[in-house]
Amino acid sequence: MKAVILVGGQGTRLRPLTLGTPKPMVPLANKPFVSHVLDHLKSHGVDEIVFSMGYLPEGIKSYFGDGSAFGVKVAYVVEDRPLGTAGAVKNVEKHIQDGNFLVLNGDILTDLNLKSLLDFHQQRGAAATIALTPVSDPTAYGLVKLGDDGEVTGFLEKPSWDQIDTNLVNAGTYVLKSEVIGMIPAGIEYSFERGVFPRLVGKGLFGFGSSAYWMDIGTPEKYLQAHYDILEKNVKTSVSDCLNKDFICVEDGVKLEEGAKLVPPVMIGPGSVIKAGARIGRMAVVGPGCVIDAGSIIEESVIQEGCVLEKNVSVKRSIIARGARVGDRTVVTAGAVIGEEAVVGADNILANNIRIYPQTTIQAGTIKF
Ligand code: GTP
Repeated sequence: MKAVILVGGQGTRLRPLTLGTPKPMVPLANKPFVSHVLDHLKSHGVDEIVFSMGYLPEGIKSYFGDGSAFGVKVAYVVEDRPLGTAGAVKNVEKHIQDGNFLVLNGDILTDLNLKSLLDFHQQRGAAATIALTPVSDPTAYGLVKLGDDGEVTGFLEKPSWDQIDTNLVNAGTYVLKSEVIGMIPAGIEYSFERGVFPRLVGKGLFGFGSSAYWMDIGTPEKYLQAHYDILEKNVKTSVSDCLNKDFICVEDGVKLEEGAKLVPPVMIGPGSVIKAGARIGRMAVVGPGCVIDAGSIIEESVIQEGCVLEKNVSVKRSIIARGARVGDRTVVTAGAVIGEEAVVGADNILANNIRIYPQTTIQAGTIKF
């Protein structure tokens, strides 16, 4: 079975994390996000991957190469302008053989049972099957209405409450018959959601509802939530074993000074140094090669690779991207996101979802909100 993974988007809602790093390569629990998608595919026997790319393709290519180091076969197709979700599949047509194949949005963390999805699709002889997930606020989404036997009867775009009789939304995972590619116009922007699927209603379009774990990591809030869920093992990933029974995952070569505290669930990447008097957790991920100095506290936050937190820094519900440095006593809280290699001086207060762009320098004591 082959899977096309859509990774061409700019990831604007996840900025500044996606300004220098494409969303699929943004680390989730210290691994590029899309490598979790590959693990999931592989665990269901899907080992041929086509990456449909556009924005910043080089990092993905150089990381995965031909895929052999990851136990899969990988091909790449780069579009010269965004073609939309369906256009991006049309563009990889030469890699698709006759029969069924999978299409996945490259920003979804899920433990969906792909075998059940494929069985459902095959039993019905479907042209296309959309995996569906329930949501608590159906007014914010496009809803999918199902008839008997799971056939899709229609779509409701961002409905009002009185129109709602389902809470199932498109989960960004599809099984398609190769013939469906023939419905997609070549060379123009075209989407499954607004183009292909509405045209397929009544012609073999099915929906497969599932209550599997599902999270798109497209915003900083959801990126943090996906980490909390991994740390609490609400979703099984390759780091679940490392978290073990005590929910503390300390990778190789970490230097934990005496008097440094880890509060589970917590994960510390290889080679990091946690100095005496620092406290990491609960709900914290520290990336590889970080230095967390004395008195610093990290809670409900993600610190990516190679960051330095000087003394008595406090980080809560926030994200600090690769290679950033934060000075003494600075408070980073309430949804703040510090971009790659930014340098934040001492005695700042970064809060209220503030976004610091990559490589920015903020002098000591300049921001206080
Ligand atoms: P936002 O800009 O924050 O909306 O993020 P995004 O660019 O990733 O868009 P969205 O979340 O809607 O995309 C869902 C998935 O489809 C992501 O994995 C994208 O990488 C992918 N995607 C979206 N548009 C395209 C496209 O034009 N070409 C390709 N190849 N992939 C796309």
